Amino acid sequence: MSETVQLLIDGKTVELPVVTGSEGEKAIDIGRLRQLTGYITLDPGFANTGSCTSAITFMNGEQGVLRYRGIPVEQLAERSTFVETAYLLINGALPTKPQLVNWSQLLNRHSLVHEDMQIFYQNFPRHSHPMGILSAMVNALRSFYPTLPTSTAEEAINITVTRLISKVRTMAAMSYKISRGHRVVYPRPDLDYCANFLNMMFDNPVQPYTIDPRLVRALNVFWILHADHEQNCSTSAVRLVGSARVNLYASISAGVSALWGPLHGGANQAVIEMLRAIHEGGESMATVIARAKDPNDPFRLMGFGHRVYKTRDPRAKIMKQVCDELLEATQVNDPLLTIAVELEKWALEDEYFVSRDLYPNVDFYSGIVLRALGIPTNMFTVMFAIGRLPGWIAQWKEGADDPDWKLYRPRQIYTGPPVNEYVPIAEREPRE
Ligand code: ACO
Repeated sequence: MSETVQLLIDGKTVELPVVTGSEGEKAIDIGRLRQLTGYITLDPGFANTGSCTSAITFMNGEQGVLRYRGIPVEQLAERSTFVETAYLLINGALPTKPQLVNWSQLLNRHSLVHEDMQIFYQNFPRHSHPMGILSAMVNALRSFYPTLPTSTAEEAINITVTRLISKVRTMAAMSYKISRGHRVVYPRPDLDYCANFLNMMFDNPVQPYTIDPRLVRALNVFWILHADHEQNCSTSAVRLVGSARVNLYASISAGVSALWGPLHGGANQAVIEMLRAIHEGGESMATVIARAKDPNDPFRLMGFGHRVYKTRDPRAKIMKQVCDELLEATQVNDPLLTIAVELEKWALEDEYFVSRDLYPNVDFYSGIVLRALGIPTNMFTVMFAIGRLPGWIAQWKEGADDPDWKLYRPRQIYTGPPVNEYVPIAEREPRE
């Protein structure tokens, strides 16, 4: 017999089904709660609300576990590539060799961006944030690449997925080049996904870029670590917008916008700005920690804390390792790393952070990795977005493939004034 829970409400007992996940997580299915009782649930920030069931990513915030399609992220970071991990997330299983070759070829074939799109890039003000540009341009892709009327729904989705993964990377590098007033570098068919990106970013006619495999590996790991994180803010945005049955480009564009926020993907930029301010301002660790703890100071220790992880974010451990290896390999001595290590030590010994389970998250060391790759600070969140694309796509597809995909439409508890008469302007009481 399937498990249920009983809820005593207004003297009446209602029975609600329990849904159990494959890792034993339990949820009370309240789908019929309002119909049965007249009540809804209230959960600001959705900290206790499951918006869907999903077979893509498993995370356990208490134990610091993260797996994509069942495979621990540690194994993927060590042995996979970003392209292979993207395939895994989107298609549900690791590719066979011919499948991987085919997927890589498809990504290559679709890596060019319509030449007319360059005109848009040229006309954004030079100081525009690349995330705003990316969000607009991803949405604009739909106009340049409409669905062919002859394609089946499946073909249309597959080609859109390939275009997105391949072109977003080209568009990101293109926006950087244009912002610098440089000639755009086109993707090369002989380079793999990550090497191609670095080449499009940094090659120029008078200083050809030399591809360093250690940097390529670091970028692969960076993107693997960001590839999915179940129902986070931007993924929920993608699913919510997609639930209105809008096209995939528009849904992903919403995800990019959500990711931009400093409480979410924008934290990687905010961490570096914080570390730089400490470095340049010479603030002591004690002052920084005291400010982060002061409820009257809006300052927070960026890169610390997580809605789900109540222990160290497993991605942060790997990111720190990548950071150490990269700086050693490139012989770079980044003073911000020294500050980050010290700050982490102070925080982890402080009762405020310990009692609230605040640990470094993926963003704490990722900015230092990106700096070592040569990525400018205002492009950090774009780097996160490229990495998160496979996850957004996989989650959107999972929703779209579900015959019961419902329009996301939460309810609310209204707290405004009761019914009120309209007063003509001449009769309104004077107000300050
Ligand atoms: N610095 C100082 N105090 C913090 C921090 C922090 N980074 N994070 C949480 N706290 C405190 C809060 O002030 C609160 O204290 P209180 O109980 O005394 O009021 C308590 O810890 C709980 O914090 P909430 O904001 O309620 O927790 P929530 O789960 O909503 O927030 C979040 C999670 C947004 C990530 C938060 O920890 C934060 O703002 N961190 C800094 C930004 C950041 O690094 N974001 C990236 C997250 S990872 C990602 O999206 C990729």
